[in-house]
Amino acid sequence: MKYIIFNWKSYLNLKETISLSKIISNLPSSKKFKLVSSPNNFFNLAIKSRFPKNTLATQNIDFHGSGANTGSMNINHLIENKIKYSILGHSEVRSNFGDSDTIVKIKLDLCLSHNIIPIVCVGETKDVYKSKKTKIFLKSQINKIFDKSTSYNEVILAYEPLWSIGTGLTPKIDEIEEISSYLSKILKNYSFKKINILYGGSVNLTNISDILNLRNVNGVLVGSASTKSDFIKYFK
Ligand code: PGA
Repeated sequence: MKYIIFNWKSYLNLKETISLSKIISNLPSSKKFKLVSSPNNFFNLAIKSRFPKNTLATQNIDFHGSGANTGSMNINHLIENKIKYSILGHSEVRSNFGDSDTIVKIKLDLCLSHNIIPIVCVGETKDVYKSKKTKIFLKSQINKIFDKSTSYNEVILAYEPLWSIGTGLTPKIDEIEEISSYLSKILKNYSFKKINILYGGSVNLTNISDILNLRNVNGVLVGSASTKSDFIKYFK
């Protein structure tokens, strides 16, 4: 079973979000794919009440709980609305809202204590990639986010090279496999009930089957291509 996460970012309005969610809800259930959609946070409730069987993720949460926290995305509201997943540390959240690995770690711990499955995003810049320091960079990022003495429940780790997101560029297919296998090796130093490694960054209808065929890649996190109905229908 491979995870397919649709990250709709802020691309779609409510009508478009409903239309894609309807296509998802009409797909025959599949043993091959686990589809999770991540509408703009404002639309999660509308989509959940209209399509209760669709699995949803928020695009972020914050670590302020219930109470006097204006503007907060309270994790308790995810539970209340039966949303099981949250993306954490996406590169756009890191650059737009300043989330650091330390903040991602706090959010990760919060997800675990609230039984929300986190989709933790990591990835290197173009400079790091070019200077062949991707593995060192990812190892240090993982070290900052995960704790060796914690027993984690299910966690999804999305490897998303920053230079690949929204650019049409991707690492070579064997590089994706090499990095995923490296990640799977270093994650053995931590304790997880379940860990899945996904690739994200310019996934589309042309490259998806090669990526999904990789042994160490347990799925994909897809942005702009996932806003097209043809892409969603691929998973029938
Ligand atoms: P992209 O985005 O598929 O548009 O490159 C991926 C992501 O941001 O998760």
